Amino acid sequence: MSLQNTQSLTADAAGIATAAELLRQGLLVAFPTETVYGLGADARNGEAVAAIYAAKGRPSFNPLIAHVASVEAAQRHVEWSDQAQQLADAFWPGPLTLVLPLRAGHGVSSLVTAGLDTLAVRVPAHPTAQALLRAVDGPVAAPSANPSGRISPTTAAHVREGLDGRIAAILDDGPCAVGLESTIVGLAGTPALLRPGGVTAEQIEYVLGTKLSHHKPGDLLTAPGQLQSHYAPDAPVRLNAEQRRGDEVLLGFGPVACDLNLSERGDLLEAAANLFAYLHELDKSGRPIAVSPIPGHGLGVAINDRLRRAAAPRNS
Ligand code: TXA
Ligand code: MG
Repeated sequence: MSLQNTQSLTADAAGIATAAELLRQGLLVAFPTETVYGLGADARNGEAVAAIYAAKGRPSFNPLIAHVASVEAAQRHVEWSDQAQQLADAFWPGPLTLVLPLRAGHGVSSLVTAGLDTLAVRVPAHPTAQALLRAVDGPVAAPSANPSGRISPTTAAHVREGLDGRIAAILDDGPCAVGLESTIVGLAGTPALLRPGGVTAEQIEYVLGTKLSHHKPGDLLTAPGQLQSHYAPDAPVRLNAEQRRGDEVLLGFGPVACDLNLSERGDLLEAAANLFAYLHELDKSGRPIAVSPIPGHGLGVAINDRLRRAAAPRNS
């Protein structure tokens, strides 16, 4: 990851237009929401999303929230439902994230969903976030704008302390009002509280007219990348493979003869962007999957973490 000059942008029309342009170019921009500052990237651009992990130094791939300007924008990416509409009517724009099934032609990078068949979507209420999302006119993936393992940022100064030189710009609009991440509700199956937040479970249950199932702490979101439904290929996976054995398909890295190459030029950003999509693709062959060695530095840490999970013995 290269050091860069992190611009400070004022949250006026010019600053928002510049931030939107940087995002469209595939660069990272931190922006205010009513909960915390988010570290944004164009959710349709896998390499831009991979750069989020590099900038945060995150050692594993967690699915990310896609931020959009409106219900109509959300509906381009997920299968909408009556329950989603009820919650959106009550709490959007605002600090509530809904996890819904991806819809065909959703256009979102598989690095945003970490290979899941669901997508977390949120319409933030912050006027600057709203204006930015309308200007980008596309989904913006954004975790909190802090280095991995550090406290979530609620001011532009916090963002600069943690990420100065690692991102293109910070859109500064003062402190965040809520200061706590959004409540996450899963609607892909039985309605479930996936992460508590500013909107309470009681408020959500009142609107839905039904109880939420709760995940025990440690079940899900406290164990990054260990979501129960997390994608693992059906086929066995063999790591650090120099070449194919038997009827294996080879997922390559660097200048090797293989079935699909994560990055011929050995670029970890490109490899991260391709990882989940290529695993899905090779899994369709019904043959065992061998994977080239991936360097263990930078984004390679997260890539190898995910590959080890994919190669681990299955529970079921
Ligand atoms: O308030 C917020 O939600 C902030 C601001 C920036 O919007 N964002 C935020 O993102 O907190 P992050 O990446 O720190 O948390 C996203 C959480 C993760 O714990 C992830 O596991 C969960 O959302 N998540 C994302 N997609 C999911 C999915 N498809 N299924 C289940 N959980 C998902
Ligand atoms: Mg966070």
